[in-house]
Amino acid sequence: MHTLELHDGTLLPAFGLGTWLSEPEAVYGAVRHAIEVGYRHIDAAWIYLNEEEVGRGIAEGLAAGDVAREDLWVTTKLWNDMHAPADVEKALETSLKLLGLDYVDLYLVHWPVAHRRGVTRPKTGADMLALGDIPLEKTWEAMAKLPATDKTRFVGVSNFSLGKVDLVTKSVGVAPAVNQVELHPYLAQRELVAGLRERNVVATAYSPLGSSGRPDTLKRENEERLLDDAVVCRIAEAHDAQPAQVLIAWALARGTSVIPKSTNFGRIEQNLAATKLSLTAEDIAALDGLDRAERYVSGRFWCFEGSPYSLDVLWG
Ligand code: A2P
Repeated sequence: MHTLELHDGTLLPAFGLGTWLSEPEAVYGAVRHAIEVGYRHIDAAWIYLNEEEVGRGIAEGLAAGDVAREDLWVTTKLWNDMHAPADVEKALETSLKLLGLDYVDLYLVHWPVAHRRGVTRPKTGADMLALGDIPLEKTWEAMAKLPATDKTRFVGVSNFSLGKVDLVTKSVGVAPAVNQVELHPYLAQRELVAGLRERNVVATAYSPLGSSGRPDTLKRENEERLLDDAVVCRIAEAHDAQPAQVLIAWALARGTSVIPKSTNFGRIEQNLAATKLSLTAEDIAALDGLDRAERYVSGRFWCFEGSPYSLDVLWG
């Protein structure tokens, strides 16, 4: 199993199961099956609204003796309406209760975006809080106190630029253990990945298969499917492998953690098998050549009229 070293030498299982857009009724079986076949890293979030079922899958895996708790890595995330320092620990406690766990391994600030408390999905400017009103440094200060409560082993961030990683690190004196961001050959984010490595922050790749299962409302018109890319398919064929496996192997080869989502048992197994696929230097160079700085998860949903967030503020 591939592992990545966190800043203190702790090993993170690099390959894991994503659960965004996994229906609650399907995700329980998916997590249960994934643990049974050898997954050692489960990625969750409060906003996925399926933590209870993810937790049930974990509980059954533990009860069956498929894995010991200390050998399983569980991540979950703070939603945007709980950025106020007084809310941060409460939000973690809510997730722990839903997951049925005493602790998670990693708790992430899901987005560098804040909503008013109780606003799950903002619709108007009045639902949003600007970073000036609720600075990321304040949220991060509260996050940095969590490992001492034993409710999470590590804290980190998601969707943060290098500038934002540096801002919270310098302000609080604690660096995020992980930054979880969208990464795949169409969005290689080389500078970000190299910058995180320099800072001893592990990069985790979300939507590594191009997130083809997300709703049409979140898709661009005529969006190209990464899984159908001719270069990806050619490399897959040469290895007698599947396109998804090539994408996972590329993510691991560049030293990132990777969390493909699936609720299909066959694809869950197929994705795990990708951890054994070795790409050649030529394959990697060809995949590196596909970069077009194209986000599938654009962040435009935070940037409606009246919102204090623009794409520049978000990714800048
Ligand atoms: P499913 O859950 O039915 O398997 P990402 O991780 O980039 O968000 O991609 C997840 C999407 O890719 C989901 O729609 C998922 O569907 C699909 N998927 C997951 N694994 C594979 C695979 N091995 N081959 C093809 N599609 C896959």
